[in-house]
Amino acid sequence: MERESSKKDITFYWGAATSSYQVEGGNHNDWSEFEREHHLTESGLASDHYHRFRDDFEIAKDLGHNAHRFSIEWSRIEPREGEFDEKEIQHYRDVVTALRERGLEPFVTLWHWTVPLWFRDQGGWTSKKAPGQFARLAGRMADALPDVRFWITLNEPNVYTAHGYLRGNWPPGKKWALMQYRTANRMLASAHKKARVVIRQKNKNAEVGITQNVIWFSRRGSWLKDFFFNHYFVRLIGGHQDFLGINYYFSDRGTGQYSDTSWSIDPEGLGHALNTMARYKKPIYIFENGIADAKDDKRGEFILSHVGSMKDAMHNGCDVRGYFYWSLIDNFEWDKGFGPRFGLVEINYETQERHVRKSALAYKQIIEGL
Ligand code: BGC
Repeated sequence: MERESSKKDITFYWGAATSSYQVEGGNHNDWSEFEREHHLTESGLASDHYHRFRDDFEIAKDLGHNAHRFSIEWSRIEPREGEFDEKEIQHYRDVVTALRERGLEPFVTLWHWTVPLWFRDQGGWTSKKAPGQFARLAGRMADALPDVRFWITLNEPNVYTAHGYLRGNWPPGKKWALMQYRTANRMLASAHKKARVVIRQKNKNAEVGITQNVIWFSRRGSWLKDFFFNHYFVRLIGGHQDFLGINYYFSDRGTGQYSDTSWSIDPEGLGHALNTMARYKKPIYIFENGIADAKDDKRGEFILSHVGSMKDAMHNGCDVRGYFYWSLIDNFEWDKGFGPRFGLVEINYETQERHVRKSALAYKQIIEGL
């Protein structure tokens, strides 16, 4: 009985997510260099969120959100090894204050794929020094943001290492570099563990985890894919996590319904993703779930059906504590440039004007209805 009532007291977090490089603008790091070298679209000013975060959070508040996930940009904070930029650290203090003032619980991601040039130049995530350096960054941020409770050390290490060390279409651009793939995964796992220890030493209330991209592989015989993509990294970090984040976008089934990026829309897959990750027996947060839909004619139904699938999983005992739509505002979509539109809020990249999409209001109603 007691457990029942204490469970009910837990706040359910509803919000949206962003990442520094995709929205802030004006960043110089391994990705901006990679874009230039490979003649890709440059992220440039992106959504100018670095200067407009207060306005953007005001919108999130009006949309009924009670939480927000964002990432800090390592290359701003530590532009040269061991040199921390106080002005940039203050920027993220201001971000957290702006969230708190609007009743939004901050969820801070420490690494959403971009790294400073000095870190890249010493071998990036394959360097033995990487875990210690990442833990130092984590300690610095935990000192700077003492009232932040939720820390996501790593965003989708599985997607990053697959693109960066196997496909080679993202930094560091290695193709089928299997040994480096393995080393990078191990270093990332060690970086997470070290960072978690440091953050928890500095902040007794902190909860620290990662967020993992999960695909539902529906076909029989896809256990190997399921293992390597969904579980390998989570197993590497073992019990060293206070929660487990899940980013879910699609399954491998053709459902006849597709997003602008041709991803198969499959809300049922989210239920399967939650069930498969429930084996780690940690509280689960859905830190990303979203759709590229420039016309905004599928997004409302997308959110409704995925939240429905999440609620079914919760009724069946899955301990889900939050849902974050990807993303709050349109943003720079890595190798795909500015084409795909994931935002609840549309951005006019010529004027940087914000326009709240209809589906954002549908999401607001879903939030109010729970
Ligand atoms: C990433 C985001 C990205 C989104 C949509 C996720 O895998 O974490 O950075 O924008 O997918 O492609």
